[in-house]
Amino acid sequence: MGKNNVFTNDIKEVIINEEEIKQRIEELGKEITNIYNDDDDIVMLCILRGAILFMADLAREIDLPVVFDFMDVSSYGASTESSGVVRIIKDMEENIEGRHLLIVEDIIDTGRTLKHVIDMLQTRNPKSIKVVTLLDKPERRVKKEIDADFNGFEIPDEFVVGYGLDFAEKYRNLSFIGVLKEKLYI
Ligand code: XMP
Ligand code: MG
Repeated sequence: MGKNNVFTNDIKEVIINEEEIKQRIEELGKEITNIYNDDDDIVMLCILRGAILFMADLAREIDLPVVFDFMDVSSYGASTESSGVVRIIKDMEENIEGRHLLIVEDIIDTGRTLKHVIDMLQTRNPKSIKVVTLLDKPERRVKKEIDADFNGFEIPDEFVVGYGLDFAEKYRNLSFIGVLKEKLYI
């Protein structure tokens, strides 16, 4: 597993390693660069806290002028499944009216959180809204009403941690994406 040895005993399996993440982000950066025009006014919105490492690495692979912003939302409901009722803990700072908004997410699970965030931001009249997610669990979405425009990896329906994603705020600083050992949930 390389770095982050302190976590070695907690991880059942590495599903995406550091090199795979790096390569995929280079590809995503090129894809995103090609979609917009050089003079587009683009606000990259990092959804805290899980997308922070992805945002930092992806932004450096996008060859366009971008503005950074951050939003922290919390989803009401049971701890393992989001309800889709989203509370803004920290709103973004930029005025997005008439500008391109690129939402940067760590993972789309049921899609409820993202749907609510998009509905909310749409009322502020951006020129466009696009979504880039590092991970996608498509099995979890019965109705495919929400999909990312750019998607790093499709993964099976297992709880993953690392590279920004946490379990009880731990494991965000792992350099890879892994599955936690079951005994740690109970
Ligand atoms: P929904 O279901 O609304 O939820 O798409 C998205 C949010 O749920 C969290 N989430 C995870 N966090 N490992 C995590 O660390 C996972 O496997 C996982 N699945 C969902 C995450 O905060 C995401 O933004
Ligand atoms: Mg979390």
